[in-house]
Amino acid sequence: MPESNRTATLTFDNKSIEMPIYSPSVGPDVIDIRKLYAQGDVFTFDPGFTSTAACESSITYIDGDKGELLYRGYPIEQLAEKSTYLESCFLLLYGELPTTTQLRDFVHRVTRHTMVHEQMHYFFRGFRRDAHPMATLVGVVGAMSAFYHDSLDINDPWQREVAAIRLIAKLPTLAAMAYKYSLGQPFVYPRNDLDYASNFLHMCFSVPAEPYQVNPVLAKAMDRIFLLHADHEQNASTSTVRLAGSSGANPFACIAAGIACLWGPAHGGANQACLEMLREIGTVDRIPEYIARAKDKNDSFRLMGFGHRVYKNFDPRAKVMKESADEVLDLLGIHNNETLKVAKELERIALEDPYFIEKKLYPNVDFYSGIILEAMGFPTSMFTPIFALSRTVGWISQWKEMLGEKDQKIGRPRQLYVGPTKRDYTDIAGR
Ligand code: CMC
Repeated sequence: MPESNRTATLTFDNKSIEMPIYSPSVGPDVIDIRKLYAQGDVFTFDPGFTSTAACESSITYIDGDKGELLYRGYPIEQLAEKSTYLESCFLLLYGELPTTTQLRDFVHRVTRHTMVHEQMHYFFRGFRRDAHPMATLVGVVGAMSAFYHDSLDINDPWQREVAAIRLIAKLPTLAAMAYKYSLGQPFVYPRNDLDYASNFLHMCFSVPAEPYQVNPVLAKAMDRIFLLHADHEQNASTSTVRLAGSSGANPFACIAAGIACLWGPAHGGANQACLEMLREIGTVDRIPEYIARAKDKNDSFRLMGFGHRVYKNFDPRAKVMKESADEVLDLLGIHNNETLKVAKELERIALEDPYFIEKKLYPNVDFYSGIILEAMGFPTSMFTPIFALSRTVGWISQWKEMLGEKDQKIGRPRQLYVGPTKRDYTDIAGR
């Protein structure tokens, strides 16, 4: 905790409460309200946590006004250009960029954990073939706690480390298995001679009947998608993982909780929802109708892939992703696809429309990632599992950071209760 040499005073009902103010290394100051209830007998009210720092963290920093995202201080644009997903995983997990030897060792450890327990293959068979891969993923990742008993003790730093490596290594395998299962195709075992992204493409797209060559441009774009989604500060799913972990739950259960939270269309499910929306719009001439709906206060419709809770200027991930989208579409020679035309025109109109400018609604990372993933051949149902596997390193880094805190407590928010006051039970005959 940084030193505090200033205080804020809250005065109400003839009470005056002094609270320390802390200055972070960068970003807004923080008022420490932890003694507020004990000293003032009041709670704070902040649904959606729009003004609440729920933890101290040194992993990721976002400046929403500047459109800046830093992993351990390094700008996302530099990492996207110069780093790789696994190098950035090391950075997120351990705080510094690895040396050559450290990176080799880390890649080796992750690569040697890519296979899953063979019994898990049978576990998959309990799911319906038409299950959404996210439904399967929540189940199988939670079930990892039933398979890896030697990395469940959260009080043992070595077991925490093994669980972290296992999760980063096995999530691509499990996500690819969920996909293959939904197609009715055989599971494809990981290949340890391939890099992380190429191996994922191999497990998703190869079949035993014929050879499959991973395209290096697609592998690079895949790696970039993983890297851009690797962590994002205290978002809903990360906060879910921290909250689940605060009770002492095992790492596999905590990550399954994060996956469940990520699934929602306001969060990781937005990439699927965005592409489905583009398809529903269908042709460029129908865009004005949807823009009008997005502006209509009486219509709950929102333009998926636009807006962000924190970024109020632009989403720096979206900028990099747009470059990747252009590269992939060029490579695959996709220029006249109708969905793409709708996406490009929607982007142009929304960036010029006063409503979107005034509300600071810019295309977010999900707007472009869906376009790339579709071009690569993934069905929309796989978009969110890919987000989940990318974010696993962020979740696990934040989980490890939380468990390392000296006075870590179970998360337990309070409430503004507006229900009935105490009343006596009435027998059914008298109601
Ligand atoms: N389309 C139309 N209007 C919107 C949109 C949108 N996508 N997003 C926000 N608004 C309007 C909203 O109606 C509100 O207007 P008013 O002030 O008149 O009531 C105003 O902008 C502020 O909206 P909010 O709901 O208070 O903003 P928020 O910060 O709570 O929501 C969000 C952030 C991401 C949930 C929201 O922008 C949204 O639903 N976007 C679409 C879903 C999406 O693309 N999500 C992916 C986010 S990036 C990936 C990730 O990090 O998970």
